[in-house]
Amino acid sequence: MKISLVVAVDKDGGIGKNNDLPWHMPDDMKFFKETTTGHIVVMGRKNFESIPERFRPLPNRENAVLSRNKSFVASGCKVFNSLEECIKEYAKQNDKIVYIIGGGEIFKQALELGVVDEMYITHINHSFNCDVFFPQFDTSLWKQETILQHTQDDRHIADFEIIKYFK
Ligand SMILES: NC(=O)c1ccc[n+]([C@@H]2O[C@H](COP(=O)([O-])OP(=O)(O)OC[C@H]3O[C@@H](n4cnc5c(N)ncnc54)[C@H](OP(=O)(O)O)[C@@H]3O)[C@@H](O)[C@H]2O)c1
Repeated sequence: MKISLVVAVDKDGGIGKNNDLPWHMPDDMKFFKETTTGHIVVMGRKNFESIPERFRPLPNRENAVLSRNKSFVASGCKVFNSLEECIKEYAKQNDKIVYIIGGGEIFKQALELGVVDEMYITHINHSFNCDVFFPQFDTSLWKQETILQHTQDDRHIADFEIIKYFK
């Protein structure tokens, strides 16, 4: 099993505000969709609920939602009561990648558990005054490869680049 993580962060490491994404970056969304399609996406309950109902579960992906609430149900999704239980469930999946897709609590726990093999981080060159942040991590422990550099245009409020971090 390979565990990957996909996130977009602003200049301050911010990832969300008022339980939503404070930006609309269609070419980054396209990268997210193309990368995760056909695989497994793991998200926290708040992230799940931040996705408009008509877009969830995310199509053509197995959707796993984490909640400590044992009676929580999410139509079309598997619900797990812990990250460990979720990882155990997919441990024998060699044909699919497990993508940790946030939010902040889930990213933090996945990094603390040390289970993340690679990360795709979109760095957006703008500050959005976020209220949820990606955890600090030691960049010296990761190799880096630039996947995409994108300049600001009429559809994108700021320049951004997508970096792959791997061991
Ligand atoms: N920029 C990005 O790439 C990106 C990506 C994803 C999300 N976001 C943003 O991130 C924000 C949401 O992040 P968040 O940190 O507030 O919430 P979150 O991580 O999405 O969800 C937190 C919830 O997950 C459940 N949970 C957490 N740890 C668990 C565990 N170990 N076992 C079982 N369940 C667990 C709990 O649900 P219960 O309360 O039901 O127990 C908890 O309240 C939003 O603003 C969203 O837009 C940004």
